[in-house]
Amino acid sequence: MTYPSTRIAIIGAGAVGATIAYAAAIKGIADEIVIIDLDHNKAVAQASDIMHGSMFLPPVEVTAGSMKDCKDAQIVVITAGAKQATGQTRLELAASNARMVREVVPSILEVAPAALLLMVSNPVDVLTYAALRVSGVPSHRIIGSGTVLDTSRFRSLLAARLNVSISNVHAYIVGEHGDSEVPLWSSSTVANVPIANFSTSECASLNDSDREELFGRVRNAAGSIIAAKGATNWAVGLSVSRVMSAIIRDENAVLTVSRLLNNYHGIDDVCLSVPSIVGRNGLGALLPVDYSDEEIRALRTSAGVLKEAAQSLGF
Ligand SMILES: NC(=O)c1ccc[n+]([C@@H]2O[C@H](COP(=O)([O-])OP(=O)(O)OC[C@H]3O[C@@H](n4cnc5c(N)ncnc54)[C@H](O)[C@@H]3O)[C@@H](O)[C@H]2O)c1
Repeated sequence: MTYPSTRIAIIGAGAVGATIAYAAAIKGIADEIVIIDLDHNKAVAQASDIMHGSMFLPPVEVTAGSMKDCKDAQIVVITAGAKQATGQTRLELAASNARMVREVVPSILEVAPAALLLMVSNPVDVLTYAALRVSGVPSHRIIGSGTVLDTSRFRSLLAARLNVSISNVHAYIVGEHGDSEVPLWSSSTVANVPIANFSTSECASLNDSDREELFGRVRNAAGSIIAAKGATNWAVGLSVSRVMSAIIRDENAVLTVSRLLNNYHGIDDVCLSVPSIVGRNGLGALLPVDYSDEEIRALRTSAGVLKEAAQSLGF
């Protein structure tokens, strides 16, 4: 008896697409990873470069392909399109990448009608909404990488500042993957101790200016990395591979992915990130988060920014 293999397709062989392929290969998430790009030679080069290390990888076949090779993929990851230039906001990228979504999503669904789509290109929340509108597929199958990356940045800075293992830090960034994102300070804990009360013999608790400074570093992280090296790729590669593993291994993991929200604390018909359960079918239930009044206000503002951006693009 032969077992069906696990296949992931990645559209876009740039810094982000290639790093996602590399992270997925190292973690043994799929048996087959196909990379697809308008610049086919680049996709071939990225796939070959990873396969040249296959002696050190779990069994995996990384290849370059074309749209028809999305066939039988459980997940198609979209990283294609323009990236942020220094000083540009994610929302300013919207028009050209929205055109990409209109082109690419129907061609994927033609050959992979049951695939889950994992949106990564920016502005990721607006493009997740665009993919939903363009495809018409049920919303649990269209997932944006959202603030999974921002949440990881937040936890890594908190862990360093509080001198505890990141595995004991529970804290989320929600809302837009971008300037209007919201840190959920009120529910952040270290090993069940609320962050507001957390201090040890080695570190004092965070005051308001510490919080502001730390969150500022999360919100501006991409800008400073892009200014120095032209792209962010490593942490987003790990974040997206985390989402893929939650799906392929049916983990029901809680992740701050971007998704369509309706009737959510006064938020309707917009995609943004909130803690959600992610498993084999894509998006599952929402967590009953206990937001503070200030966090809810900020989340609604973020939703307003994203709704306006989607409407300005005709979605
Ligand atoms: N969601 C996140 O957390 C996150 C983090 C970092 C970057 N990003 C976004 O990911 C995207 C990719 O970034 P990058 O650094 O890899 O950019 P890049 O310029 O290195 O690569 C983009 C690739 O897309 C290809 N491409 C363009 N249109 C295509 C199409 N229609 N079909 C197939 N391939 C196409 C290009 O040829 C190029 O190789 C950007 O929009 C960036 O802003 C998202």
